[in-house]
Amino acid sequence: MSEAILLLSGPNLDQLGSRSPEIYGTMTLAAHVQRFRERAEKVGYSVEDRQSNFEGDLIEAVRDARGTYAAIVVNAGALTHTSWALADALANFEGVKIEVHLSNPAAREPFRHVSTLAGVVDGTIAGFGAESYDVALEAVLAVRGRA
Ligand code: DQA
Repeated sequence: MSEAILLLSGPNLDQLGSRSPEIYGTMTLAAHVQRFRERAEKVGYSVEDRQSNFEGDLIEAVRDARGTYAAIVVNAGALTHTSWALADALANFEGVKIEVHLSNPAAREPFRHVSTLAGVVDGTIAGFGAESYDVALEAVLAVRGRA
């Protein structure tokens, strides 16, 4: 298996930069991806990124990741709180799975307190803004190092 990470982004994350900057900051998704890629490449991983506003696209991306990626780092946006189908897809991915959020959903509206993904991933990083992705990369390394 190659040393590649799939960085998966769900609905509305394509609007980062202008979307609720007081919550999500002003960095665009492209900037988050570039930062993640640069850091990952320094430790020997390539990164492919995919963003979709459509649940089925994300499910298919996870399905197709089997056997190809060492890890998936996923910010599923609001699908985090609703999508049992994405959770099922992730459950069937054999590599490392890290759930990531820029904000801390547990400190926000009640509907964000539930994560359908939390039970099928290795762990969740939330609340550190852009640095959530840095910590998510560390988490990938930590979980892989354990294997
Ligand atoms: C988010 C948190 C979700 O509740 C929200 O729907 C998002 C972004 C985050 O990164 O903080 O779209 O996943």
